[in-house]
Amino acid sequence: MSLPPKKLYIKTYGCQMNVYDTERMIDVMTHEGYEVTDAPDDADLVILNTCHIREKAAEKVYSDIGRLRVMKEKQAKKAEASGRESKKSILAVGGCVAQAEGAEIQRRAPTVDMVFGPQTYHRLPEMTDQADKIKQTGARPRIVDTDLVVSEKFESLSKKGIARKKTAFLTVQEGCDKFCTYCVVPYTRGGEFSRSFEDVMKDARKLNEAGVLEVTLLGQNVNAYHGMSRENEEWSLARLIRHLADVTDFKRIRYTTSHPHDMTDELIAIHGEVAQCMPYLHLPVQSGSDKIVKAMNRHHTIASYMKIVESIRAVRPDIALSGDFIVGFPGETDADFQATMKLVREVDYAQAYSFMYSERPGTPAAGWEAQVEEHVKSERLAELQEELNRQQRAFNDKSVGKVMSVLLERTGKQDTHLVGRSPYMQAVHVDVGDKEAAESYFGQMVDMKIMSAGPRSLKGEFAT
Ligand code: 5AD
Ligand code: SF4
Repeated sequence: MSLPPKKLYIKTYGCQMNVYDTERMIDVMTHEGYEVTDAPDDADLVILNTCHIREKAAEKVYSDIGRLRVMKEKQAKKAEASGRESKKSILAVGGCVAQAEGAEIQRRAPTVDMVFGPQTYHRLPEMTDQADKIKQTGARPRIVDTDLVVSEKFESLSKKGIARKKTAFLTVQEGCDKFCTYCVVPYTRGGEFSRSFEDVMKDARKLNEAGVLEVTLLGQNVNAYHGMSRENEEWSLARLIRHLADVTDFKRIRYTTSHPHDMTDELIAIHGEVAQCMPYLHLPVQSGSDKIVKAMNRHHTIASYMKIVESIRAVRPDIALSGDFIVGFPGETDADFQATMKLVREVDYAQAYSFMYSERPGTPAAGWEAQVEEHVKSERLAELQEELNRQQRAFNDKSVGKVMSVLLERTGKQDTHLVGRSPYMQAVHVDVGDKEAAESYFGQMVDMKIMSAGPRSLKGEFAT
């Protein structure tokens, strides 16, 4: 008699890199016979794939661990009352909080059995086996694996399968050497690492064969990509995108996240030359004040950023621009903040993310004296977000009446609804009429006429 499959529950926090990592963890563990469940109380292995970028994100992990502990205690009591043995499930914390605070997690949350970083999850099967064995003896596993060697991970993962979807992430680059003074990434993800051209192409071919239509090349500093080929030739991101457009059937190619310092002329140019390169660019500037971007160690100026915006609009006038902003960085005065507002008005974003500065332990700016008061940070954030929301709404309103290609990639709230993305990354909702139609259109790229716009999404109808 074969045993029922073990169940895996993963909760993902934070960025697209974590979403990608979660997908790869699922690949690795389904290879080991695990099945994914969306019920943590039913799982044999619970993984929290965490984010350390701001304090709020990290604290959420600890409250979730607390909730899981209560759930497990209840389960154990129930099992005891009915004379059964309770499930010895494993609780693992992965991702960036694990990398940054491994020992701290074990101290604060003794229920955690396994801690692993973003560069070691390819070893999950071995770690889980080891934890399982220790648990069966009634002891606590306390496994920690937070090495920072990236290449071994990709080598190991490439051998495993890839989930069947029409949109996919492909990590080409990881880590960062920029050391912005507020950011934990160089410490949690390690230094800049570009995968080799052949490795990237191997994954790209797999996705292509699986029928993927839209690929998003991922990296913390994706436009710093400089993968080497076997012939010892260096591949830039622009060259890689061109090549993918030539040799695969991908209809859409995206990349994120870019740094203004690495936004080369070659990369700007392909937005006007390669049809598959989507008219959307996420290019964080963080602040509109030269004094602040300098203190952030951003390696660019406001003028150099504005020059990029101008050049990219020259080759692709309809491009949707997106960005990240931090308000209340140490030393930010009202005038600095108003410089950010001015920049935002000048650029006119299609959408953007904005955050209050959050002191991250171990980063240079965390120790600085000129911290901005919380109430000032929240007032500035509210002012900035009001303007960004207005711009996003205006961008969406301009889409009404246009016909756009939409890749219908997920089901909506009702079973006759599908949701896809426009070339500009806007979510487009469509009611296809009945359930069968929803099934047949799922995963298709169709032309849609945009009928109405909301603050965060559009509604469309089939154009024919
Ligand atoms: N505080 C606030 N925002 C931060 N980000 C990164 N670190 C911090 C921090 N310490 C934001 C930046 C970055 C995005 C991913 O998160 O805007 O681009
Ligand atoms: Fe962090 Fe700056 Fe690197 Fe982006 S460029 S990951 S913000 S250090």
